[in-house]
Amino acid sequence: METHLRVIRRLADGELHSGEALAQALGLSRAAVWKAVHKAGAALGLEVRSVRGRGYCLATPIELLDPARILAAIPRQPRNRIKRLDIYDDIDSTNSHLMREAQKGAPSGTLCFAERQRAGRGRRGRTWVSPFGTNLYLSLLWRYPLGPSALGGLSLAAGTAVAGVLETEGVPDIALKWPNDVLWRRRKLAGLLLEVAGEAQGPSLVVVGLGLNTHLDADQAAEIDQPWVDLEAVSGLGPISRNRLAARLAERLTEVMEKYGTDGLGPFLPEWERFDRYRGEQVEIRMGDRSYPGIHAGVTAEGALCLDIEGRIETFQAGEVSLRPAREDRSPI
Ligand code: ATP
Ligand code: BTN
Repeated sequence: METHLRVIRRLADGELHSGEALAQALGLSRAAVWKAVHKAGAALGLEVRSVRGRGYCLATPIELLDPARILAAIPRQPRNRIKRLDIYDDIDSTNSHLMREAQKGAPSGTLCFAERQRAGRGRRGRTWVSPFGTNLYLSLLWRYPLGPSALGGLSLAAGTAVAGVLETEGVPDIALKWPNDVLWRRRKLAGLLLEVAGEAQGPSLVVVGLGLNTHLDADQAAEIDQPWVDLEAVSGLGPISRNRLAARLAERLTEVMEKYGTDGLGPFLPEWERFDRYRGEQVEIRMGDRSYPGIHAGVTAEGALCLDIEGRIETFQAGEVSLRPAREDRSPI
């Protein structure tokens, strides 16, 4: 592990740590500690305070992810669905990592978290803002005997898993925007990215990626070009434990992945409909430069979107299209 990351692990508690104590604990010189503290600030975007003669502390404590805490917070039976757990301080993208690991034979039920992603991805090459030590960036690998075409509804099923966990954790007003966004009052709180590979007739594998904001600084979020929110801004929620939330999500997502393999999307549709944000509203479907205005008329049994265009129903697959609320009604509430 790089030195500045080792220093940050020590400082994560927000307490003052003397240069001497840090140097001793990490087997470094005091000059090396000083250098690492500065690198941590610059490379990770963390504010590290230096108190003359007393030491260093983080301006805001951070709860780093801890595999033992995550696993201990999952009851034994669902924990058995997790076959491997990878946690990285710094990675390009947890989805890219699991796609690579899948090719090398990683088992179904491999779960990956990162403290930071250097190249977090949304759909179609878009960026997912993923600063260090905050939010959740997780991916889960699952293998199916089915071909990829049977997995079209999985994004919706996974969305119900995330929305359900947030609701159970006391987050009010959670909604889903077809096919892969989790919203709080029209602002983007989380996003799902599903990547599939496999033979037409099966078997196939999917990596489900979830980015969920717990705390995002406005300057870190400057490049986000749509209304966004983090859990900290949702009033009435108590302190958020990233490890606890990670455990709840891992438990429920693995359950949903397993059930989808036997029962498909059907059992999740009532939940989807309950959370479906723009159902019955005027929206537009964008496909490349083309835009189709219509009324969101629900989803098919396979998870495709039904758009009522002047009384005629057209269906759209998630792959290449985006849903947006109608132009006149796009302001966040
Ligand atoms: P679509 O409806 O096609 O899914 P989208 O604009 O939500 O449209 P995605 O690919 O799903 O696109 O998500 C990527 C987008 O999410 C980025 O272009 C940016 O606008 C937004 N985004 C990036 N990072 C974050 C973040 N941490 N929190 C909230 N939103 C983010
Ligand atoms: C979206 O809204 O387009 C989906 C965003 C998905 C982001 C998550 S963060 C963990 C995983 N790794 C990635 O690179 N992307 C997903």
